[in-house]
Amino acid sequence: MHIPLLLWQITFENDNIFVESGESPNKNKIILEKVIGLHKRWWKEATVYQIYPRSFRDTNGDGIGDIPGIIEKLDYIRGLGVDVIWLCPVYRSPNDDNGYDISDYRSIMPDFGTMADWEKLLEGVHQRGMRLIMDLVVNHTSDEHAWFVESRSSKDNPYRDYYIWRKGEGDRPPNNWTSFFAGSSWQYDEVTGEYYLHLFSRKQPDLNWENPAVRREVYDMMNWWLDKGIDGFRMDVVNLISKVPGLPSVGDPNVLNWGGANFMNGPRIHEFLKEMNREALAGRDVMTVGEMPGVTVEEAQRYTGEAENELNMVFQFELMECESYWGGRNVNWSLPAFKAIVDKWQQGLKEGGWNSNYLNNHDQPRMVSRFGNDGPYWKESAKMLATLVHTLPGTPFVFQGEEIGMTNVHFPSIEDYNDIDTRNHYRELVAAGWRPEDALTYYHDRSRDNARTPMQWDASENAGFTSGRPWLGVNPNYKEINVASQIGDEDSILSYYKRVIRFRKEREAMVYGDFRLLQPEHPTVFAYLRTLGGERYAVLLNFSDKPSSFSDEALSSFGQVALSNVGRTGFDPAALELAPFEAVVVK
Ligand code: GLC
Ligand code: CA
Repeated sequence: MHIPLLLWQITFENDNIFVESGESPNKNKIILEKVIGLHKRWWKEATVYQIYPRSFRDTNGDGIGDIPGIIEKLDYIRGLGVDVIWLCPVYRSPNDDNGYDISDYRSIMPDFGTMADWEKLLEGVHQRGMRLIMDLVVNHTSDEHAWFVESRSSKDNPYRDYYIWRKGEGDRPPNNWTSFFAGSSWQYDEVTGEYYLHLFSRKQPDLNWENPAVRREVYDMMNWWLDKGIDGFRMDVVNLISKVPGLPSVGDPNVLNWGGANFMNGPRIHEFLKEMNREALAGRDVMTVGEMPGVTVEEAQRYTGEAENELNMVFQFELMECESYWGGRNVNWSLPAFKAIVDKWQQGLKEGGWNSNYLNNHDQPRMVSRFGNDGPYWKESAKMLATLVHTLPGTPFVFQGEEIGMTNVHFPSIEDYNDIDTRNHYRELVAAGWRPEDALTYYHDRSRDNARTPMQWDASENAGFTSGRPWLGVNPNYKEINVASQIGDEDSILSYYKRVIRFRKEREAMVYGDFRLLQPEHPTVFAYLRTLGGERYAVLLNFSDKPSSFSDEALSSFGQVALSNVGRTGFDPAALELAPFEAVVVK
């Protein structure tokens, strides 16, 4: 590429930028900033903090986190240095899937508070210089949503076509797709003798995006929230909204099967997202991130490409799926495979697209238990993983409790679990002949409730989350792992999060710099370079509980420690040994 800019010549060659201006290096830097400035966006520079309101902070003693609880903690959140809060659903919902089954998009769940509380929250967020993004769940509604109540009432109801109704095949459902939450994704409804599609629970019927009236309703609702002043949306499973016409079975139609190929990244998905962008987002200074199971890099180039006008970024699942998971640890998990996925996404989205980076959220086990070590190297590995998330190109997402190193929970009985996904699949495994204790062990590692146990604020009863009985058990380790014990401790995970968030914010190279992976095959060290003009950093992460040595020509010019999770001061590239789970960034 060759861009003549006034009198200057700027040449891009193999990731290097050459500026010929006959000017001083400083002037060259200004020219570079002009070029880079074309792609600067606040949401690229931001750090996002995800709140699962049910488990964050309860203020009225009913055991359920609430909006006043979030307001109470806004200074804490601001203190982390984050810029954006993503609020999981707070809309009216019968809570079959904890708020991801919405019965009224325009009102607040009474458990969480009132619209006035929500407005106070938005104001409090903005007052502190932060932004608020809301969860947009429009692949499906609750079966208690007024549209569905109408839709199921008769075949000629005007809302019938808001959902996906089909006749059965004899006494079988219309196709063989399985639901994400186990079993068929079709539910027979006696009122009209037809089935409706639900990719998630029976109480989450899929909306029919082929119907323009549905799309209009969604855009109107989005505009309604945007007009209230929110700063964007996280879009729930948004790449599932376009289904292959005819809804064909996958494989043998007589056997239940994963139908993903017929509804993930479906035929009209880009058309729908472009329309949504035009109708609700265009011209507003907001950020969007689409949650996308089964998204490929090639698809993500289209979803996030700046010229495409669809979304700003996507949550991909490849990193979450690069493992077999059993008995408390990743089995067959390999660092080279993990690095290859990161590298593929970094290379794939570097021209005009954008990555999001996360290692856990409300649907995934806790990252320190999964990718680190929640035993002897708990502190080191939590900090090491944080270093990865915050020094890769892309927008980092922190899930509540991650910043204090919260771990997976091992509830003693399946009855202690609340998550519909866990409960349904557990039942399915046991019905298939698993011993109940094995199925339980499986969910000790896997359950979404690992992420949903109440936030651990202090060492008092119920971790300072509630004065009542918590809706889901508190992790028994709250006496050791909590905010109060970490907040004044310079060496804590919490203090490290503040440091690493600031570290990224203060260095453009960490946001806009180039990414180059070193030694993809190294079995224990994840190493890469971040470069922007003359600003260069090397990041070295030891993923092992043993010391690891690492040497690479590319490190020869680095010598100064910029960030360390173990208090390292000196750096000799010729004789480098990293301590267990050590993370170091050098200049
Ligand atoms: C997304 C949400 C998850 C929910 C599902 C159905 O994956 O993150 O919590 O169960 O969609 O809405
Ligand atoms: Ca409450």
